[in-house]
Amino acid sequence: MIKKRIGILTAGGDCPGLNAAIRGVGKTAIVKYGMEVFGISDGFLGLIQKDYFPLEEKMLSGILTVGGTILGTSREKPFKKNGRKAPDKPGLIKKHYDEMGLDCLVCIGGNGTMKTATKLAEEGLNIIGLPKTIDNDVWGTDQTFGFDSALWIATDAIDRLHSTANSHKRIMVIEIMGHDAGWLALYAGMAGGGDVILIPELDYDMETINNYLLERARKKKPYSIVVVAEGIKKPKKQSAAEYISEKIEEGTGMETRKTILGYIQRGGSPTPTDRILATRFGAYAVDLIAQNDYGKMVIKKGEKTKAIPLSEVGSKLRLVPPNHSLIEKARGLDVCFGSKVNNF
Ligand code: F6P
Repeated sequence: MIKKRIGILTAGGDCPGLNAAIRGVGKTAIVKYGMEVFGISDGFLGLIQKDYFPLEEKMLSGILTVGGTILGTSREKPFKKNGRKAPDKPGLIKKHYDEMGLDCLVCIGGNGTMKTATKLAEEGLNIIGLPKTIDNDVWGTDQTFGFDSALWIATDAIDRLHSTANSHKRIMVIEIMGHDAGWLALYAGMAGGGDVILIPELDYDMETINNYLLERARKKKPYSIVVVAEGIKKPKKQSAAEYISEKIEEGTGMETRKTILGYIQRGGSPTPTDRILATRFGAYAVDLIAQNDYGKMVIKKGEKTKAIPLSEVGSKLRLVPPNHSLIEKARGLDVCFGSKVNNF
């Protein structure tokens, strides 16, 4: 029987759990199915430049707990139009895929990566997508790996802000990543007991927020935690935390400090939940390859691991529904989402 040969790449922003997924794919491919595995460097850039190396089983040991990606990553978008004289990147990818003798390419990434993966599948390449991102915004899956680890980091940061906010009687504004989605800010805000939570999916108005903070002060709660998603709508070209803290200080006269958590949210060792999710996704991907079942993205639905056609995912985003049950429950606990709406 001819050995199948697969390539793995990680693309887009990194997150905890990428190495766990690479290990899940690689070990299953080598141990369970006797496949040959190639690691492709720096996302789609590695395929354009034909930069790859054999991934042997021993290279996959000891990486489960390690943050980042042993393959490297980049934000290379091969289908982005770059003028007539630009190299035909999709053409180069196809050429190198054939020259490497690949039977399938496993693309581990977020929305941008799934979009590229879908286009490559349309061009006739055998592709399997694995959804990762701290933003948790890939359409079709209940969860992406990376999210749980970032949630722990962001929650820990909010916990730490509580004690210093209390000592100084200040308003602490913390900016959480998530791109255009509010999942991370909502979940970390709830887990960390945020008083105000602002997410891109919900409109807010500063008067409501400032009145809420002043009312807390009147109730002898002179400090508050304001959790702000980086993607909230704002008029100026400032960061979300800068804008909101400026407006709070202006509107309430209360001493305010801002923290932009930034890339810390993407670093370090994955949580047990992410290690397991990434391993499951990786192993499932290879089971699909063994059955020649290509053009799919692996997903989590409830407790099940499944796959859906990449063509269904396309460039759709998974955003927080404004009537999400957690938002509704939080409103009942007097959490302020910046609007006058109350659901109770
Ligand atoms: O998609 C993950 C993410 O960390 C977002 O939360 C953030 O907006 C973005 O990537 C930052 O991207 P970059 O690594 O290109 O600065």
